Amino acid sequence: MRILVTGGAGFIGSHVCSRLIKENHDITIVDNFDPYYDPDRKKQQLEQVKMIGDFHFVHADLMDKQECRKIFQAKQFDVVIHLAALPGVAYSVKEPLAYVQYDIEMTINVLRYAGETGVSHVVFSSSSSVYGNKADKPLSEGMADGKVVSPYAASKYGAESFCHSFQHLYGFQLSILRFFTVYGPWARPDMAIPKFTERLSKGLPIEIYGSGTSRDYTYIDDIVDGVSAVLETRHENETFNIGYGDPISMERLLDNFRKFYPTMEIIQKPWRMGDVVTTWADIAKAEAQLGYKPKISIGEGIEKMVRWTDSCSG
Ligand SMILES: NC(=O)c1ccc[n+]([C@@H]2O[C@H](COP(=O)([O-])OP(=O)(O)OC[C@H]3O[C@@H](n4cnc5c(N)ncnc54)[C@H](O)[C@@H]3O)[C@@H](O)[C@H]2O)c1
Repeated sequence: MRILVTGGAGFIGSHVCSRLIKENHDITIVDNFDPYYDPDRKKQQLEQVKMIGDFHFVHADLMDKQECRKIFQAKQFDVVIHLAALPGVAYSVKEPLAYVQYDIEMTINVLRYAGETGVSHVVFSSSSSVYGNKADKPLSEGMADGKVVSPYAASKYGAESFCHSFQHLYGFQLSILRFFTVYGPWARPDMAIPKFTERLSKGLPIEIYGSGTSRDYTYIDDIVDGVSAVLETRHENETFNIGYGDPISMERLLDNFRKFYPTMEIIQKPWRMGDVVTTWADIAKAEAQLGYKPKISIGEGIEKMVRWTDSCSG
């Protein structure tokens, strides 16, 4: 298939592209090396993809309508996997309007030109944050009701809504994938697990925020399995949780790190605005309809992260 991956130089994008190249798809990546985190790191991520095989790369800002239109008009894509976004809950509390531009306006550009140029399948990367703070767990796809707790989540929920409306207008196949806290090699440096491994490997203390939190941490290879599986499906418009299905408390996460860094120092910080207390994916729908089966437990995943961090610094 001819696949356009937006944000393909990012953490998830670079892993997804590597897999899709191995699966012999014709890949075009568009990315603007946004400075949310070090653009050089994104260039290194792209280098990792190059080691797997060839792809086309377009350096462009998808918030610019003309640039976005040109990309879609230059080639007839079968599928668009839209991963480009401004991520991060904490930053969204500081800069909420930026999320309207990146996560809603940019998504509208992608949906519109995908629709106008006859793309058959649009895959949108949403987030577990769209569930807000729900007392009932695990979180199944029907439980998102817009009652979110951060501007990031509001922009993802809003963008999902635009996805539904453009699916109705243009009739393309729509798959909304709600990813649950993703980690693994090259993980985004603003997230807990990569921050912990980076600091602990240098003998530095780590900071934790609030108490009683847990997250359904999902290893990148499992996320990539979910994305790859949805490309094989035929439906009109479906939403899937892509998570591991096991909420890991902060204590349990720290215990996993302690195996590698027994003397680690922890600094307790106050609760961060916009964070949810718990995420826990109900993955029954993805299992039944995509054949999705996550494989990497938190213990194995942390071990892989520690080995990868050591290999980078060594
Ligand atoms: N990492 C997670 O745990 C997680 C969880 C849930 C959802 N998601 C979603 O998955 C997607 C990928 O996340 P990630 O962690 O890989 O983030 P990332 O920041 O590593 O990747 C996003 C990429 O999009 C690019 N980009 C941003 N604005 C752009 C623009 N205007 N034009 C072109 N490219 C642009 C960035 O340069 C970056 O390379 C995002 O939509 C994110 O919200 C991620």
